[in-house]
Amino acid sequence: MSNVFSWFIIIGTVVSLIACFWLVAYANKQRASDKEIQESESHVWDENIRELNNPLPMWWLWLFVGTIIWSAGYLIWFPGLGNFDGVGGWSQEKQYADEVSAAEAQYGPMFAEFGSTAAETLVNNEDAMGIGFSLYQNYCSQCHGSTAQGARGFPNLTDDVWLYGGTPAQIEQSIVAGRTGVMPPLAAVFGSDEAIDEMVSYVQSMPDGLDTSSPAHTKYMQLCVACHGPDGSGMQALGAPSLIDDNWLYGSSPTEIRKSIVEGRNGVMPAHGDLIGADRARILTAYVYSLSN
Ligand code: HEC
Ligand code: HEC
Repeated sequence: MSNVFSWFIIIGTVVSLIACFWLVAYANKQRASDKEIQESESHVWDENIRELNNPLPMWWLWLFVGTIIWSAGYLIWFPGLGNFDGVGGWSQEKQYADEVSAAEAQYGPMFAEFGSTAAETLVNNEDAMGIGFSLYQNYCSQCHGSTAQGARGFPNLTDDVWLYGGTPAQIEQSIVAGRTGVMPPLAAVFGSDEAIDEMVSYVQSMPDGLDTSSPAHTKYMQLCVACHGPDGSGMQALGAPSLIDDNWLYGSSPTEIRKSIVEGRNGVMPAHGDLIGADRARILTAYVYSLSN
């Protein structure tokens, strides 16, 4: 915070505190002449409803004084007055750092032990799976859902269909390094809307066996085969999904398939390695692995 702004806050705060104190003191002074004020300012309505100007009860007044003293003490002890750090040595960053290092001291050794255990073994460890569940809820559920069943564009992690593979090593790679699915936009290479429509129908019919007589089949073998494979079962090295199962990342309706082909798709699984560290990544790998095994 700039010095000018800091002083602006300090002066503003201190002046308001003094003003509060003065106001309370001033209001209290009037007590001496209570009686006259009561009489002089009393308004009467309907003959018997009378407005009095009674002074505050003493306990109430002391409550005000107490809050003013409290806030002064607070502003001396804690940071609050501009750039002044407070004499108590407390800061948000320090509290956070303390909590993190306390947690690290408590859980670090356990995490390190889990981190050096194979995922296939960890799945049988109840403590590790409990931690895996919490880590999952913290870092992954916003995208893959709280039950890990995914959503449109976010793969289901509980089934045995995998874009990039379901071995512990492949899952760990997905988590640590992230994944980027690249389905290029291909509208331009089709030449006509009809050709695209044909391809959409062809893709819809792929689960029933490849219709080699369709002109779209020729196109498929030119344009799509490199990624989705000659039989349409996809390619895990590229994250290209199978087009012959009934599992769809973006949807099986003609509109969605058309959109996939025309506009392309770019699913991004962010890399989590730096964020969570290797030990947590291992625990999460085992947890995700356990969901489908
Ligand atoms: C910002 C959203 C987001 C977050 C957060 C996220 N993911 Fe993902 N994840 C994705 C998307 C999108 C994909 C699919 C990428 C693609 O389409 O190529 C994916 C893919 C995956 C895959 C590969 C699935 C497969 O079928 O091969 C795994 C495993 C995975 N995520 C696990 C996790 C775990 C564990 C976490 C928590 C540490 C996590 N993800 C956090 C969006 C996310
Ligand atoms: C460069 C590789 C590549 C080529 C070429 C390619 N695709 Fe894809 N395709 C992908 C990838 C990767 C995805 C998944 C995108 C994601 O994860 O966001 C995908 C997704 C799709 C989807 C969505 C699937 C779903 O589950 O929702 C359809 C449909 C599709 N492709 C059809 C085609 C067709 C038809 C062609 C040829 C005209 C084609 N693709 C060419 C890589 C490719």
